[in-house]
Amino acid sequence: MHYAIVVNVTLEPNKVEIKNSDIEGKGVFATEHIQSGEMVLDMDDTHVVEDKSTLAQYEREYECDWLGDGKTVHMQAPEKHINHSCDPNTYVKTVDGIRRVVAMKDIRVGDEITYDYAINGYYDSDIACHCGSKNCRGTLSPNFFKLPRERQLQYLPYLDIWFVEKFKDQLEEIRQ
Ligand SMILES: C[S@@+](CC[C@H](N)C(=O)[O-])C[C@H]1O[C@@H](n2cnc3c(N)ncnc32)[C@H](O)[C@@H]1O
Ligand SMILES: [Zn+2]
Repeated sequence: MHYAIVVNVTLEPNKVEIKNSDIEGKGVFATEHIQSGEMVLDMDDTHVVEDKSTLAQYEREYECDWLGDGKTVHMQAPEKHINHSCDPNTYVKTVDGIRRVVAMKDIRVGDEITYDYAINGYYDSDIACHCGSKNCRGTLSPNFFKLPRERQLQYLPYLDIWFVEKFKDQLEEIRQ
């Protein structure tokens, strides 16, 4: 005898899809209107990299996120396809231990979801930026501390809690 187990699960409608991007490679795009302050997606940070020495260059650049306390995670889709923009429409905020991508402005259907890699970033890279925004900085420099002061002040409210704790002294200097 066979038993069918039926479980009712209410899934959050998926607000994004992965497509080719004009910025670089693949990107993540809105499939519905998303309001400023609304959650876009939750990141899956359960794939912790235990041995960083095994990472290939490609993985370091494309598939990993380097968080506080030396934690490195193998990013999963769709978040691993989110490109950088110097004029971003989202930021990342940890809520109840989960990193959430949150809209910082209204996002229309078809808009590419981007965040500024310098928010919560403390690494150097000299990759040319192709974000195409009017205020493009020219290089994809994922380092908050190398941003112009005006930009740093604008981004202070968007910094994630681990970044604020890790760099509290440097951030205090910027606030003064
Ligand atoms: C997490 S991946 C982003 C998704 C990637 N486009 C893909 O196809 O999966 C990060 C890498 O994408 C590239 N990238 C992201 N944003 C970029 C930008 N604004 N300009 C140039 N390259 C960018 C860089 O090589 C960066 O190391
Ligand atoms: Zn740019």
